[in-house]
Amino acid sequence: MTPDEFRRYGYQAIDWIAGYLANPERYPVFPSVKPGQLTDSLPARGPERGEPMEAILADFERLIVPAMTHWNHPGFLAYFANSAPAEGILGELLAAALNGNGMLWKTAPAVTELEQVTLRWLRQWSGLPEDWFGLIYDTASVASMHAIAAAREAADPQSRTRGAAPGLVVYTSEQAHSSIEKGAIAVGIGQENVRKIPTDAAFRMLPEALEAAIGRDLASGLRPCCVSATVGTTSTTSVDPVPLIADICERHGLWLHVDAAYAGSAALLPEFRWAFAGCERADSFVTNPHKWLLTPMDCSVFYTRRPEILRRAFSLVPEYLQTSDDSRAVNLMDYGVALGRRFRALKLWFVLRSYGREGLAAVLREHVRLAQELAAEVDAHPQFERTAPSPFSVVCFRYRGTDDENRRILECVNASGEVFLSGTVLHGRFTLHLAVGNLGTTRAHVQKAWERVQSAAGGPG
Ligand SMILES: Cc1ncc(COP(=O)(O)O)c(C=O)c1O
Repeated sequence: MTPDEFRRYGYQAIDWIAGYLANPERYPVFPSVKPGQLTDSLPARGPERGEPMEAILADFERLIVPAMTHWNHPGFLAYFANSAPAEGILGELLAAALNGNGMLWKTAPAVTELEQVTLRWLRQWSGLPEDWFGLIYDTASVASMHAIAAAREAADPQSRTRGAAPGLVVYTSEQAHSSIEKGAIAVGIGQENVRKIPTDAAFRMLPEALEAAIGRDLASGLRPCCVSATVGTTSTTSVDPVPLIADICERHGLWLHVDAAYAGSAALLPEFRWAFAGCERADSFVTNPHKWLLTPMDCSVFYTRRPEILRRAFSLVPEYLQTSDDSRAVNLMDYGVALGRRFRALKLWFVLRSYGREGLAAVLREHVRLAQELAAEVDAHPQFERTAPSPFSVVCFRYRGTDDENRRILECVNASGEVFLSGTVLHGRFTLHLAVGNLGTTRAHVQKAWERVQSAAGGPG
């Protein structure tokens, strides 16, 4: 492609993005495609000869876009809704142009240093300890896997050379994200050695049950090594009692990881600092700007106060990657499995600079306000009940009927294409989960969802 052609198609692509961002609601939030439909509409074999960009862009619009669930749609209220605002998209576009690979400082100084700078800003805005070391992974699942690997390294320094010793145990709550269990699988600790600690009525880990489980394992000769607490669990956004869990970890010398993948963004708001009490005592902490901090997929921020352990677990430098030592030249490949790393900090920098702390805080506050308003309406409705406290921007609620009725309500609401909710099971009962997290979501979208839920249940609305 010549520079002139790039300009032409580039402007065309930007025009398309601008139109999409201006009116994402022209597409149903949830597509009506069937599994395999897109595959069947595309050639079974790749083209022998290059095709014209007109044809590729036309097929993007004709085939790809209609097969998308539109996360950037303001009616997206499922899971943890997220946003890719224009500022973040520009950062991502420019990162692709630079095509930097930040494996070593010298292979991309800006990739390495901007990551350190943006993560310092975020740490300061979030009230997290100044001396924490931060780096960006793709997802919280991968970040937590690295936390568990570091915990294993701290408990069993030989694991790196001879594999994981049998008997290491990881603790998390029964409400924790499945990534903690997957992390234990990945580093060879094994699923059977993950204890899912019971939670209280508000879905928070019971510290006395954690203490008892550790005691039982010690008595049977096992080796507890890591506790993963959650600030903002996936189903209900409950907050584990981190200060009490930190006490237990300190008493037993265990690595404390905090998974704040969604709720970590709320640390920017002084009124939510209560949720992060005790996190300053953690060994590691993960938060995903790609969930609630207006950063396009993917960007997961990982902090640790013990980077030397993470480095001990993963640093392996072959001849062809040797580089001269300089205390200011961080080589990020030393802190994880991946050698190559994308320039994820660029889009984060664009977002942090263009919104500023106050701008981001205003968006988060509005999301919380919308969720709290819905929570109050659900509480006031005789045929609905809230199924969990709603500390942040997620509301879990259900029709006071059977699970099947609630599942039908969800299907019916999502079939509208106007809004998209998800479901979960709490205390054995199916429940609706509505998350406000998209930049474009307004009161009208939340009200539309609530009205559709009520009418699907056969009530007013
Ligand atoms: C608490 C929590 N941790 C981890 C994850 C996994 O996030 P990722 O998709 O970045 O791996 C999620 C996803 O929703 C989550 O809610």
